Amino acid sequence: MVEMARIAEDCGLQAVALHPRTREQGYSGRADWSRIAAIKAAVKIPVIGNGDILTPEDAVRMIDETGCDAVMIGRTASSNPWIFRQLEQFLTTGRYDHPTQRDRYDMMRTYYEMLLARAEDDSVGKMKQFATYFTHGIRGGAALRVSIYQAKEARQILDLVDGFFETHCDEVSSDLVLA
Ligand SMILES: Cc1cc2nc3c(=O)[nH]c(=O)nc-3n(C[C@H](O)[C@H](O)[C@H](O)COP(=O)(O)O)c2cc1C
Repeated sequence: MVEMARIAEDCGLQAVALHPRTREQGYSGRADWSRIAAIKAAVKIPVIGNGDILTPEDAVRMIDETGCDAVMIGRTASSNPWIFRQLEQFLTTGRYDHPTQRDRYDMMRTYYEMLLARAEDDSVGKMKQFATYFTHGIRGGAALRVSIYQAKEARQILDLVDGFFETHCDEVSSDLVLA
């Protein structure tokens, strides 16, 4: 990997990003951040570290441990799109807010409505794909995920989302009653 980064630098590339897992590893085991540090020590161009950043603390730890110039966030960007806001807040105040159920509802509903507005055939599939990420780690998320997987129609999925947050979020349920 170090050799490839050097070649990239010699060829005039302006930065390199590394996700330090092997193809054989897939997503199993932990990303070996020491490989990011090794590349950082070997090249002068900016190095972007990636792998297993789940929280703002992880991002700061990656920079501390590897000296990388920036971080790249993959799966957490889908499961917790607030990670970037949290990171900025953490860097300026040392603490960060967690999304409310209302935030989660608004984000899921908005994304699903945008998929529907495109009027493409793959909306239901994309809704299911996003549900995989989004329902992990939220209370009652497994049941919502299963019911979304079983749904056949996009509108049915929107109803499932509304129904879920109606029972898991007081703020949303009062809105839905008023609407
Ligand atoms: C939905 C999804 C799509 C991805 N697509 C690509 C891709 O097109 N090219 C690529 O190099 N890596 C891709 N990756 C890998 C990520 O860039 C990243 O290296 C990997 O998810 C590990 O980082 P993480 O622990 O922050 O998720 C993808 C990952 C996910 C979850």
